[in-house]
Amino acid sequence: MMKLLPFEKYTWVTAAHREYLKSLEDYVSQSQYLPKFHIYPPTGLMNDPNGLSYYNGEYHVFYQWFPFEPNHGMKHWGHTKSKDLVNWHDCGVAITPDQEYEQHGAYSGNAIEKDGLLYLFYTANYKTPNGKIPKQALAVMDKEGKVTKSPKNPIIDGAPEGYKGEIRDPYVFKKGEQYVMLLGAWAEDDTGRILVYRSDGDLESWQYSGTLDLDMDCGYMLECPAYMEVNGKDVLIVSPMGLSPQGDKYHNRFASLYLVGELDLDSGKFIIEHQNEIDAGFDFYAPQTFRGKEGQPLMFGWFGCGEQPLHSDKDMWKHGLTMPRALSVTGNKLKSFVAPELLAQFKNSVSTENTAIAVNSSAFRLNTRVPNGCEETIISFGDSNDCWQLIVDTQSGKVAVDREGLDIKVDEEYGYRRQTAIKPHQAVEIDIFVDNSFVEVFINGGEKSFSLRVFNTKPEANTISATKTIPLDVSVYCG
Ligand code: FRU
Repeated sequence: MMKLLPFEKYTWVTAAHREYLKSLEDYVSQSQYLPKFHIYPPTGLMNDPNGLSYYNGEYHVFYQWFPFEPNHGMKHWGHTKSKDLVNWHDCGVAITPDQEYEQHGAYSGNAIEKDGLLYLFYTANYKTPNGKIPKQALAVMDKEGKVTKSPKNPIIDGAPEGYKGEIRDPYVFKKGEQYVMLLGAWAEDDTGRILVYRSDGDLESWQYSGTLDLDMDCGYMLECPAYMEVNGKDVLIVSPMGLSPQGDKYHNRFASLYLVGELDLDSGKFIIEHQNEIDAGFDFYAPQTFRGKEGQPLMFGWFGCGEQPLHSDKDMWKHGLTMPRALSVTGNKLKSFVAPELLAQFKNSVSTENTAIAVNSSAFRLNTRVPNGCEETIISFGDSNDCWQLIVDTQSGKVAVDREGLDIKVDEEYGYRRQTAIKPHQAVEIDIFVDNSFVEVFINGGEKSFSLRVFNTKPEANTISATKTIPLDVSVYCG
């Protein structure tokens, strides 16, 4: 067992930590619960995906990172890159919060390319004894991967009237000739808002132009806005804090929603035609959208939500990201399904029409179909005394995931089951991606999804059993 050192919460990484972090990385690599095809932190805690982009022939994923411990501490931007969305190359820290204006962390934001450079926008977290002062910052990455902070930082300093210190998570995009920045905010009347800033083109000077109003409950604070046009429709992604449970929805600490409709920046409104939770599971938050190599809309989410104790914390790493998901809009509804590049890595499939199948892998895909007319079909993953379950009821049109049967309980305080509605009286197509302790379930090609962490005591020996005879088509991850 290596000697773990204590760190002050707001410690930033310096050259002096290199050796310790290298041993910590070796220590993490022994963990029994590491995934194969999900991005996870080399050490410490990973949260939101940041700066997602395809730039200079590669995919870039930055992420919120506290390298020293599996806790929320001083947030850096970690960086990993890939040519194909399958093989990732870790690049270490991209943004170290070592300046006075960002003394409590480099918080979330996104990236856009301009004049051959990648502009990285982030929130400079700045606390004072009288509360936070919101500050937004910019760093620029060149083609060699060198990141330089803007000498004009913080590029936005302070809050417009009517807001508290919590304003963060810049999402910048180009609309016509204008650059627009959306920011999540906590208004003085304790409601969540989106603030809009505009820039004519230098991306360093920004003018406040009001709010983007949403005709919905935005909780007390709204985090991580993201915007993108998908199949000719405007899609806004928001992560509100403080929504009360409503039927099947909003049972986690915080929620992430998509809104399909029309973005009208002139009137400062987003006209909502349809809205829903993006993912119906336990462990999904703060997703960010971006465009891939061919301009295709993609998304990664944080595979976690708020502060959750996890069984793997003792191994000194925590959380990860969802798989990259390809987005589409049909009939005003957002679908998200595994990006085709990653999907192509599941091979050597074994198919059976049966009630059980044994899988000698901790990284695989199960494809199945529950026919119409089945009141309740339960599919269990693991031994009967240590399993999680998927429950499908085609009659009432409900799909649920349940973690109660697991020996090692996960985040129990928030309940064992999540469920979502599907169209009743129809067969249901199911794809389940198991990646050791990371599981993503997709219903009907991504109409609905569940992200959930599970800690089976024997992750490498999976028995899948169903209460009815159904097709069980298993393919193994070969990436
Ligand atoms: C969302 C969030 C963001 C913030 C970041 C800090 O999970 O709280 O609002 O920028 O995480 O790590």
